[in-house]
Amino acid sequence: MALLKLIPLTFSFLMLVAFNDLSLHSYGIRIEGVMKHSIDYDSSSSYNKAVIDVEDYGAKGDGRDDSEAFEKAWGVACSSSQPVTFMVANDKKYKLKPLTFQGPCKSNVKVMIEGSIEASSDQSDWDGKDERHWLLFDEINDLEVGGGGTIDGNGNIWWQNSCKIKTSLPCRDAPTAMTFSNCKNLKVEDLSIRNSQQIHVSFESCSNVHASQLSISSPESSPNTDGIHVTGTQNINITNCAIQTVTPQPQNRAR
Ligand SMILES: *[C@@H]1O[C@H](CO)[C@@H](O)[C@H](O)[C@H]1NC(C)=O
Repeated sequence: MALLKLIPLTFSFLMLVAFNDLSLHSYGIRIEGVMKHSIDYDSSSSYNKAVIDVEDYGAKGDGRDDSEAFEKAWGVACSSSQPVTFMVANDKKYKLKPLTFQGPCKSNVKVMIEGSIEASSDQSDWDGKDERHWLLFDEINDLEVGGGGTIDGNGNIWWQNSCKIKTSLPCRDAPTAMTFSNCKNLKVEDLSIRNSQQIHVSFESCSNVHASQLSISSPESSPNTDGIHVTGTQNINITNCAIQTVTPQPQNRAR
């Protein structure tokens, strides 16, 4: 049985720093720095106008690894001196090895995941890396992550090799799908996070966090797939989140 922890739905602590609604600011759309690729301009109001699309950096979403493209695109987005949208477009499923979105960034970045991101199912991709993380967002201020897409930890292989399932195996760490550490003024909303290798979402040493409309689910047979962890974090609101274990769907009937 999965142990999903249901975090009390609303935490309200004293507001220490005003939480800026970054979308209300108006920004120029000039990007500085060496750019090998064109930047698209998105006119929709809630996204930053300058768009760094992972596809422009080589992401294919064809089932092969897209980590390198994401890393390159992140480097450009994070070093931009103007606010940018890091875009993961709709209708594609991108495969990622463990990846760190490292800050601090020069300007405000919105990560808009409209499509799907799926974890590598090859555990050796974690060799020599920190097995406690899959996607790590570290030291990024004023970060916004959303877009309505799906983050899939593809945790099956980790569950099978868990010491809770195979009791002869030693217990080892398994990745948290999304970890936010040392982030100030963070907004995470409107994402579906599922099948995590272990914990789905973790906030560590962050402040002023707004998490909402997160739909978190894993099969009822998955071991230790906790919903949301909060550690050393100040002023966090978690609202309108659904955290559940699900019964696997019956096989699709033949057509
Ligand atoms: C959390 O909610 C309280 C009460 O609605 C609000 O005053 C505060 O600004 C919120 N904090 C964040 C970080 O969203």
